[in-house]
Amino acid sequence: MKTNSKNILLTGGTGYIGSHTAVELLNAGYHVTIFDNLSNSKIEVLSRIEIITGAMPEFEQIDLRDEAELSKGFDKYSFDAVIHFAGLKSVGESVTNPLDTYENNLLSTIYLLKVMRKKAVLNLIFSGSATVYAIPETLPIKENNVLGADCPYGRSKLMIEEILTDLSVSDPEWKIQILRYFNPVGAHPTGLIGEDPSGIPSNLFPYLSRVAQGVYKELKIFGSDYKTSDGTCIRDYIHVVDLAKGHLSTLSRLDHSSGMEIFNLGTGHGYSVLEVVKAYEKASGIKIPYIFTERRKGDIPISYADPTKAEHLLGWKAEKTIDDMCKDAWNWQTKNPNGYIKKKKE
Ligand code: NAD
Ligand code: UFG
Repeated sequence: MKTNSKNILLTGGTGYIGSHTAVELLNAGYHVTIFDNLSNSKIEVLSRIEIITGAMPEFEQIDLRDEAELSKGFDKYSFDAVIHFAGLKSVGESVTNPLDTYENNLLSTIYLLKVMRKKAVLNLIFSGSATVYAIPETLPIKENNVLGADCPYGRSKLMIEEILTDLSVSDPEWKIQILRYFNPVGAHPTGLIGEDPSGIPSNLFPYLSRVAQGVYKELKIFGSDYKTSDGTCIRDYIHVVDLAKGHLSTLSRLDHSSGMEIFNLGTGHGYSVLEVVKAYEKASGIKIPYIFTERRKGDIPISYADPTKAEHLLGWKAEKTIDDMCKDAWNWQTKNPNGYIKKKKE
């Protein structure tokens, strides 16, 4: 196994994207420490990571909104960089309960930055989102496209980007990389870690997986009258393992960069909802029943990235196909029909 003496803190590291990133970092020989309050993830993730990599990350159950606990956590370790995944990500919940999203996402980030500054850990990678872009006037979406989020979740991400910009201007010692993820989907090819949403999934892939599994009788496709080739919305789906690898490349970039930089992480290709359904049917061998319903409020018709900046400056490019994404999502679903919780034997 490769070794690398660097210790990287992953906030929210037991979550969907964080756990896949932990695997890639451990495989590359980094030390990994996770701070997570387990509000949207399970402790079982840690042993799954260990099975895949042979290494167990350090873990502290810390709520980032507790500045004193966070500071104590930093006292226990010496970090070279922080990847900040922790946050609430549900668009729907952010609309019905905006204060929770703003409180969690903004306070967590502010306390994290304060503690990082106090402990002189000034290297940060932040989980941004393509949701910060306004309805694109030009496609593909470049990093300098017009910004304008239309839900509290998206606005919390935009506000954090502004905080990071101000911080970077105030002190050139900070090195900050913002990664704007497009639509992360799929799971680790081992089927040991994957996306495990609580309640009824609101995103396409986990919902589709449950329709294929027979939990829900059909997929509701939100809108069939968009100005796209088949009338359904187009998104840039990116395999979560490719996305995780993007963080490895960004860590290397931190060593040679200064100030703040922003990168799109996507494949550069868009697929319509119907095209995803077809690919999922092919991967699972299961016919997916679907119906068309009203458009979902806030959905934009077409979104896909221009990932060339990441390719040129990070030396990173997504490699996995839509078929890989569907195959690995289905593999995770069949191996973990109840997510990380195993049903007790009768
Ligand atoms: P996730 O919910 O699976 O992981 C987030 C983790 O953060 C969870 O383990 C949760 O327990 C933890 N957390 C939340 N609030 C916390 C707090 N106050 N203190 C400590 N831990 C806390 O989400 P994910 O899909 O892995 O997303 C990771 C990041 O990427 C998030 O910031 C999200 O907004 C961003 N992002 C996700 C997507 C996506 O579609 N999954 C797209 C764009 C951006
Ligand atoms: N969709 C359906 N039926 C469903 C779920 C989704 O038709 O049951 C459609 C949506 O209308 C959309 C597409 O599938 O056209 C993808 O929807 P998702 O909810 O999976 O993803 P979004 O593009 O809406 O948003 C996701 C994350 C955001 C993130 C954004 C980044 O939920 O957090 O990608 O682009 F910010």
